[in-house]
Amino acid sequence: MTAIIIDGKRVSSSIIQAVKSAAARLESEKNLRPGLAVVIVGDDPASHAYVKSKGRMASECGFNSIQHTLPRETTQGELSSLVAVLNQDKDVHGVLVQLPLPKHLNAEEIIQSILPHKDVDGLHVVNAGKVATGDLDGGLISCTPAGAMVLVRSIHGSDLSGLNAVVIGRSNLFGKPMSALLLAANATVTTAHSRSKDLPNICRNADILVAAVGRPEMVKAEWVTPGTTVIDVGINRVPSSEGKTRLVGDVAFAECAEHAGAITPVPGGVGPMTIAMLMANTVIAAYRAAG
Ligand code: GUN
Repeated sequence: MTAIIIDGKRVSSSIIQAVKSAAARLESEKNLRPGLAVVIVGDDPASHAYVKSKGRMASECGFNSIQHTLPRETTQGELSSLVAVLNQDKDVHGVLVQLPLPKHLNAEEIIQSILPHKDVDGLHVVNAGKVATGDLDGGLISCTPAGAMVLVRSIHGSDLSGLNAVVIGRSNLFGKPMSALLLAANATVTTAHSRSKDLPNICRNADILVAAVGRPEMVKAEWVTPGTTVIDVGINRVPSSEGKTRLVGDVAFAECAEHAGAITPVPGGVGPMTIAMLMANTVIAAYRAAG
């Protein structure tokens, strides 16, 4: 079997088109331009690259794109004060603090200080709690799991009744909300992780296998039952030939594509969906602010 390659770039560009139209309508009908503020602390090059592409995409969508770049030495108080200012700014509808923060800062306290209706990352306990309790319309859903679900639905439709889903990973940023979203779509869900016994055997039971462990190419072909939909959330940089590096996921793509029914590539699968869902959350937050 050769798998369908799920094209996250194509799916994400149709979401971006819809966001652009929604933003244009909001501006013409309510004279309101969605505002997204992204805060970055320190000089981690990967984080700066992510923030740059978020800013560029926000501008492309017609948003007011605001970036705050703070030095590594920023104190908890200074960062909290900035979040408080952004919380009160009526032109800012979405606030995102890029993670990870430098170690001396308490990231959890900062994330929880963002007003839930501006938390376009979907990480505030109010938004995470809504997802956990199956309220998928009232809050803001974490971007990477929301994007991964769009890709799952592109293969299986919106009702996953009778399907077994296995999520490897239990982080607050991805694994937990992903499991909750699959459950809300009626899948039978197993959340596995690094302490799970006999991971290959758990994965062989999956109709939908989602890998988010941060270990390059950990999921092997023998873990994938023929026909399974494989969603790879990993982004790992590994050495390649000639002293260069290349990006790989948590799934050994070439060999798993021989077994899977459908599979996401890295890059070009889940990655572009995260940024598209961030733009979607921002326009939703702006619409809600407009009343
Ligand atoms: N760092 C890596 N992924 C993310 C994300 O989705 N949101 C934030 N805020 N930081 C990240």
